[in-house]
Amino acid sequence: MLDNTSLDDGTFSFLAQKARQRLPRLFSDYLDGGAHGEHTLRRNRAAFTGWSLLPRGLRNVSSIDLTTKCFGQRWNLPFFLAPVGFAGMFHSDGEVGAARSAAQHGIGMGVSTFSIAAMESLPGCGANLMAQIYVLKDRAITRDMLSRARSCGISGIIVTIDTAITPLRERDARNGFRNLSRPTLQQVAGLLTRPAWLCDTLLHGHMTVRNIERYTSARGVMAQARDIASQIDSQLTWEDLKQLRDIWSGTLVLKGIMHPEDALRALKLGVDGLIISNHGGRQLDPSPATLDVLPTIAEALNGRIDIVIDGGLRRGGDVLTALALGATAISFGRPWAWGLAAQGEQGIQTAIDRLAHEVRDVMALAGLNSLTAMRQAGRAALWPPET
Ligand SMILES: Cc1cc2nc3c(=O)[nH]c(=O)nc-3n(C[C@H](O)[C@H](O)[C@H](O)COP(=O)(O)O)c2cc1C
Repeated sequence: MLDNTSLDDGTFSFLAQKARQRLPRLFSDYLDGGAHGEHTLRRNRAAFTGWSLLPRGLRNVSSIDLTTKCFGQRWNLPFFLAPVGFAGMFHSDGEVGAARSAAQHGIGMGVSTFSIAAMESLPGCGANLMAQIYVLKDRAITRDMLSRARSCGISGIIVTIDTAITPLRERDARNGFRNLSRPTLQQVAGLLTRPAWLCDTLLHGHMTVRNIERYTSARGVMAQARDIASQIDSQLTWEDLKQLRDIWSGTLVLKGIMHPEDALRALKLGVDGLIISNHGGRQLDPSPATLDVLPTIAEALNGRIDIVIDGGLRRGGDVLTALALGATAISFGRPWAWGLAAQGEQGIQTAIDRLAHEVRDVMALAGLNSLTAMRQAGRAALWPPET
């Protein structure tokens, strides 16, 4: 119903545009694109247009406290950098730059299984990082990932559960993205049109997925990714998750929850938090927007565990809307990757700063001086009112 809304990149438009200019088309399409008809991708964004924040004055908003506790960590802003696979291919600052930006801003970050940088090499490894895990058929690999995370001080893992299979992504199929290990003439010609990216990649980039290279004999980013992706266990069930809960005593967060029944089941199993996510429209298409399912999941959980939401958050108002509807914090994937692709680490900092600035603006004008005040107001901060 909202499918025809054109995508707008909100406060990140400038970075997104720069990223598209600097990246070869097959990488910018990989980053921007979604599954099948990309309905979910558009819906995520469009869902925010149905909500407004109510202006409230005379409430002393001279200072605004954005600190929050989430997933057992204390953050200066209610933001989490979503795990983004192959981010290190967008710019040589890669995941190291992202981890540094997250640490500097005092926010959380998920390190993708498909991180070009090994988790051990990330600065501040531990403090605010969480390792994102795809459970593979060979559980020894999963156990090894957990033990590596533990050894480098990472206290939390994110188990992504919405990737039983990888669906067709038309842009990637058209560009031959998955076959990049043997580039065609057309692909090489495409890379040559982006000299700044090409020089950076040839001089400083890594041609291997360092985080997982030890688990595969394949060589080259795409071949390694293909090999490990083919090992993601599509037979995974709640029983396996229970076993994982038993062997991982740290913070465990499930990513990809979209149904209140699944949220309650996760709670019963002892998980510490959830990320409401449809993988940024890259998996099941069509599926509802994450914002649309947030209220029923928040109601079912009733504050018992933290909820983070991702998918299409591009403005300060989107952040406040999600918090008012029950999220503890928000997460974003493409925006920080656009920042990285456009300007390296500096671009990620800009992305975080811009969103934080907008959040402060909207909170001040909505008469809210802290996230506690925001949560207390809840739905009452929004228009239309609850019926
Ligand atoms: C290029 C790209 C790669 C991604 N790789 C992963 C991944 O390796 N693991 C994962 O759990 N989610 C992955 N995601 C999903 C993000 O973590 C997040 O759910 C999504 O980007 C949120 O939507 P947004 O991009 O609209 O903010 C990826 C998303 C993108 C765009």
